[in-house]
Amino acid sequence: DVQSLLLFSVVFLVIADYVKNRRPNSFPPGPWALPFVGNIFSVDFSKTHESLTKTYGDVYSLRMGQTWMVVLNGFNTLKEALLTQGHCVADRPILPLQDDVFSNDVFFLSGIITTNGHMWKHQRRFALFTLKYFGVGKKSLESAIVDESMHFCKEIADLKGEPFNPHIITNNAVANIICTLVFGHRFEYGDEKFMKLMGLLDKVFLTAQLYNSFPVLMRRVPGPHHTIRKIYSDFMDLIKVDISKHKEDWDPSEPRDYIDCYLSEIQKVGGQITHFKDNLIICALELFVAGSETTSTTLRWAFLYMAKYPEIQGGNFHKLIRTCFPGPSAEIDRVIGQSRQPSMMDRANLPYTDAVIHEILRMGNIVPLSLPHSTNNEMQLGNYTIPKGVVIIPNLTSVLFDKKEWETPYTFNPGHFLNEEGKFVKRAAFIPFSAGKRVCLGENLARMELFLFFTSFMQRFTFSMPSGVKPVLDYRFGVTLAPIQYKICAKLRQVSSSQ
Ligand code: HEM
Repeated sequence: DVQSLLLFSVVFLVIADYVKNRRPNSFPPGPWALPFVGNIFSVDFSKTHESLTKTYGDVYSLRMGQTWMVVLNGFNTLKEALLTQGHCVADRPILPLQDDVFSNDVFFLSGIITTNGHMWKHQRRFALFTLKYFGVGKKSLESAIVDESMHFCKEIADLKGEPFNPHIITNNAVANIICTLVFGHRFEYGDEKFMKLMGLLDKVFLTAQLYNSFPVLMRRVPGPHHTIRKIYSDFMDLIKVDISKHKEDWDPSEPRDYIDCYLSEIQKVGGQITHFKDNLIICALELFVAGSETTSTTLRWAFLYMAKYPEIQGGNFHKLIRTCFPGPSAEIDRVIGQSRQPSMMDRANLPYTDAVIHEILRMGNIVPLSLPHSTNNEMQLGNYTIPKGVVIIPNLTSVLFDKKEWETPYTFNPGHFLNEEGKFVKRAAFIPFSAGKRVCLGENLARMELFLFFTSFMQRFTFSMPSGVKPVLDYRFGVTLAPIQYKICAKLRQVSSSQ
């Protein structure tokens, strides 16, 4: 009868699912996976990074629907996988959103972040070359950051210590650096076109996160992800206008920015490598996306941590405080003073400030699970064998808070990066930018931005919560871990005239 047939079908499907998805011998162990959905209920998706850290050891496997993934925890495991055996985990998997939404168009498998093999190597090398050409270590990008921090400081000084939400203005300031690099110009704060770009960016982040976490569900329900293709083409249209303008007055002998360099590269390799042409838009977009949200989120954590720990901030110049708590402001007063802007040359003389920035990046844990990798070769990790094509989650959270590596992992403690003489010390377990072949391409740029922005802010302002409000370090988990929206006061510092 129908009932028995139904029962038989269900049992058959469960057994088929079990046989198909059995953990292979010597595959990393993990919790019992339910038929069809696997371990979806083993993870708390509102704080995935925490639930993946606490659970099943340093190397374990989870099945999300039909996809196996291996979670890597702790400094030693990540070091072994990403550095020693980095050649085995250099690939990116194809994420559900890419597969479902973009498999038939130009966005599929183009750019830097989601590509593999030759395409990825070429695009990555080219982007790194351009960053080096214009930026890191060169005066041009450094002065763009210094100028931008002056715009930012003027804007918040005009608020005269009144509470403000730093989200949009910080995004704007940081994105302007990437815009200078890629498009050759910045946007005034509040510019209409820029606000449109940022609005699109927010939607992309949110949608991608939801879709890749719950693909089975998201495919079926109506929601913002159905508009993601439209969001991307809006993005493309905005960027295309810039590219056309560049073409009008392009002089190959004097490249102004990434787009100009790219146009030369197309001319150079265009005949042989056809993908290069299509990639300009998507690469420009990726640099904008990857370079804005991350650095801006770090600065928003910085304001919050400074307000939460006034004794570390060391706001106003005071002899006693300077002796007891050599906060960034006091250190900056001593080394730079108020009459000039900070520069990268100052970093070596500002060990405490540098340590505070590192601790903000560690505690802020901006990209808690890195980006997913996948095995491009079979890999042997301890006693386990991980075949080719398995998704790898390098859990950066487990390293940035590894009890074996940090003296006080859950306390904001700049001392993690200082020795007994107060000199700055590097820590191997400090990997907010990940490590190995896929290490963040913008790490040096991000470090330069954070140093110059943070130092300029500390030079001029003391950050505190509006009266009666306590600083809350709660976060919203997405691709990045961002503080929940808050308001803060930036009061101009009263610096002693003896400075
Ligand atoms: C990748 C962190 C700023 C461009 C990554 C990854 C992390 C990361 C964890 C993944 C690495 C992996 O897969 O193992 C951060 C943090 C930043 C930051 C914490 C700021 C505080 C930037 C900036 C840029 C950028 C400013 C742009 C110039 C990229 C790109 C990738 C990437 C293109 C993909 C690299 C690849 O797949 O080869 N970043 N990032 N990031 N980041 Fe950043």
